[in-house]
Amino acid sequence: MSLLGKMFYKEQPHVQNLSHKVSIIGAGNVGMAVAVSLLGKHVTNNLVLIDPIGDKVKGEIIDLQHGSLFLRNALIGGGNTFEDSADSKLCIITTGVRQEPGESRLVMAQRNSEIIVKVVKMLIKYSPDTMILVVGNPCDVMAYVAWKASGLPAYKVMGAGTTLDSQRFRVELSKKFNINPSNIHAWIIGEHGEHSFAIWSSVNIGGTRIEKINPKFGTDDDTEKWSVLLKDVLGAAKTIRELKDYTNWGIGMSIATIAKALMTQGGSIYAVSVNAKGKFGIEDDIFISLPAVLGSNGITDIVHLNLTEDELARLHNAAKILKEVQDSIKI
Ligand code: LAC
Repeated sequence: MSLLGKMFYKEQPHVQNLSHKVSIIGAGNVGMAVAVSLLGKHVTNNLVLIDPIGDKVKGEIIDLQHGSLFLRNALIGGGNTFEDSADSKLCIITTGVRQEPGESRLVMAQRNSEIIVKVVKMLIKYSPDTMILVVGNPCDVMAYVAWKASGLPAYKVMGAGTTLDSQRFRVELSKKFNINPSNIHAWIIGEHGEHSFAIWSSVNIGGTRIEKINPKFGTDDDTEKWSVLLKDVLGAAKTIRELKDYTNWGIGMSIATIAKALMTQGGSIYAVSVNAKGKFGIEDDIFISLPAVLGSNGITDIVHLNLTEDELARLHNAAKILKEVQDSIKI
């Protein structure tokens, strides 16, 4: 009799609890930041890491497994093949190419969409009911590509969107107000990229709309020049890349928070990339970043924001640009 046979009276075969399985595709800097953040937040007890290329993913899995002691004994597996992702409740796609110097976003979008399509088809083969969260850039467009390739209802497919931008905005405001960023309500919407913008009119702290106190808040005419703060927010990714070559921790924690909303009872609101057809006068299937309510089966609602005329015009402009990029991509 084996050692295990001598140690235990077996009651039933060992079965894995797959009900909370999350798969992360891509074991690069972003994928690993997402993995560590998910595990640290106890979002899942069944994490799979998949990277079709190379041995790094296998090393990362073993390395993470050694932390199981501190992670409520979470199951951590995966490797090079998509079979391991079978029956995932949520798949997070972090794979993708980076924008090469001098390369247009359009060319990058085409190159990345080819990767996303291949990955999504494999994920759907093994988890036909999964939710999909796309992290790679241009994120809103990649969410659209993932939706098209998946055949899933739009409420199950989303991009990281401007969640991180909104987080950065709240953090910068928190430094000025000396208030915990979780107590500051402030949103950046539009496109996670060049066409995102702040909804200054809705910034709210402690039940007070700042615009009520300073009607010029965030505008160029404001003598206090609060709008300067937004430059740091929107230029953050570029600054971080110049300093450390890539961004990963902020996005990793953003994704883990979105995932937590999708894996638990839900009801949390994040500015993810969603299909905006029929909202705010947008008539086409355009994926754009808007505050959405997340439930355990995906997006349950998109917040009907009270936008000013100027904010609505900016949203329509971002939607027009995103549509041009979407239409230029061959899926
Ligand atoms: C950033 C990447 C995720 O903004 O686009 O850090």
